[in-house]
Amino acid sequence: MNNVLPTSRIARRSAATTDMYDRAVTAGLTGHTITGRSGKTVRLSDGSECVEFVSCSYLGLEDHPRLVQAVRTALATYGTHFSSSRNSMQPTEINELEELLGEIYPGMTSVVFNSVSSAHLGVLPLLGAGVLPGYPMSADGPLFIIDRTAHASMQAIRGVLEQVGPVTRFRSDAPETLTDALNRATAERRTPVVLVDGIGSMGGLIDVGSLRAAVAEHRGYLYIDDAHGISITGRHGAGYAVEALDGRVPPEVLLVGSLSKAFGGSGGFVLTHSAEDATILRREANPMVFGHSNMITHVVANAESARMHLDGTVATLQAALWANVELFDQSHDRKLVNAGVRSPIRGLEMPSEEAAFSSAVRLREAGVLCFPVFYPVVAKGTGLLRFAISASHTPDQIESIARHLTTV
Ligand SMILES: Cc1ncc(COP(=O)(O)O)c(C=O)c1O
Repeated sequence: MNNVLPTSRIARRSAATTDMYDRAVTAGLTGHTITGRSGKTVRLSDGSECVEFVSCSYLGLEDHPRLVQAVRTALATYGTHFSSSRNSMQPTEINELEELLGEIYPGMTSVVFNSVSSAHLGVLPLLGAGVLPGYPMSADGPLFIIDRTAHASMQAIRGVLEQVGPVTRFRSDAPETLTDALNRATAERRTPVVLVDGIGSMGGLIDVGSLRAAVAEHRGYLYIDDAHGISITGRHGAGYAVEALDGRVPPEVLLVGSLSKAFGGSGGFVLTHSAEDATILRREANPMVFGHSNMITHVVANAESARMHLDGTVATLQAALWANVELFDQSHDRKLVNAGVRSPIRGLEMPSEEAAFSSAVRLREAGVLCFPVFYPVVAKGTGLLRFAISASHTPDQIESIARHLTTV
């Protein structure tokens, strides 16, 4: 029996999705299975080798000998995992990791989750319910205001958020839509909680500085998911959002970051201004109470990476990344999406899904893997080839893609 509700947004989105993703998988353009890797070269299951511009590990930290050694040591100490909820028993290295994050973000207390999605699920309901003393809420509750371009991990928990307050959406590129939503919060005597990305996973930079100012005027909070911005920029790799906010996390900002992208490990974290809020999150956040603890292999890799953020190694990798990004832009005459923007993500917009498909085929034939995306990631009927640039790409790899794209 088909029990999909015909009117739901999810059903409509599914109905509007073409078979293009499946065709791209069948044609070997995405959905790859890899059997090994060396730097940015991956071996595919058919035995061929390609250069990938797919991984979001923008600094290439994940196969650094220091991280690999840290994992080996942890395996000898604990085995692969300690299976308990985090707030019942946990390896000491998780405390070390949170302290190291506190050094990267001075004055802040971090709480590490298994993923960014878990951080959203753990933090936002408690924030909205007014349970965190460092972030007081109006007696009438919150109004959640989500950017339409914010990552799916925040959009997807709309129903969860609605258990503590209404949810509305705005467009971060149309300030008047935010003004309307903030005025609604004021009229309803609610505390506005504005949810945005830092660096968009497909698009450009979100102007978190202006958003913070607007939110502060309405005595609300700006909740930033800077998953893609962490490590790649800023002192000690504090990331895009902190850099854009003059090197600090202002009192009305909650910052969430990823440990799974440029950080080179795995997981997500939130920064709070008071240790008391962190204690409450560890005690009451849903994934902490009802989920398994952080994988020890991930925790120690994250902790070693954190040390490399603090000892200057990451600063050197940042310089290599931005040199590669500049080379990429130069070799494409600054014509691709995001050209000149301080983001490691570039895109080639295509007027149709077919055009994106055939361009990805030609790149694949040349041994280059990008990430072709179609609706619902981009607008209906269009396509985009997404390129993730890394400090680990060689100049030749960067330039070769430009040569192949020219032929495309
Ligand atoms: C901006 C952003 N937020 C959240 C996530 C989800 O991260 P996780 O897999 O750690 O839940 C992603 C993943 O790609 C992302 O790009």
